[in-house]
Amino acid sequence: MNKNLEILMVYKSNIFMLLIIQLISAGGVISAVIENDFVGAKQCAICHQQQFDDWNTSGHSKPMAEADKTSVLGNFSNIDISFHNVQNHFFTEKGKYWVKTTDVAGQQETHQIRYTF
Ligand code: HEC
Repeated sequence: MNKNLEILMVYKSNIFMLLIIQLISAGGVISAVIENDFVGAKQCAICHQQQFDDWNTSGHSKPMAEADKTSVLGNFSNIDISFHNVQNHFFTEKGKYWVKTTDVAGQQETHQIRYTF
């Protein structure tokens, strides 16, 4: 085989191995991030107080709040609401928020409301 071609092939396979190693280590970083929970926005305030206050008093801090007495503004005390000819029943059970509704096939289904927007 041509010597230059041989060198090029070795060079390319080393690049390929390097790429694999990088992908594996990148995967390690990603899984490490996924394994650790978010520290919470209050941790950011230690160094970013102004940004935290601006964010906390804006609407941007409200989405994906866990549904509880402070975050849920809707009425869930056994309320029936019809919307586009679909009956919906909003209720609470064991401190959790639920909606009973009908899917597109006409089947009754019940969903827990976990987060607010
Ligand atoms: C221990 C202090 C500290 C904590 C805690 C901290 N940061 Fe930072 N952050 C910094 C510093 C220092 C910089 C760089 C500021 C600069 O370059 O002007 C920075 C920069 C940033 C930037 C880039 C800002 C820009 O203009 O480019 C973002 C976004 C950011 N931080 C978000 C966060 C978030 C979200 C959290 C909480 C999860 C957090 N930080 C927690 C110290 C901190």
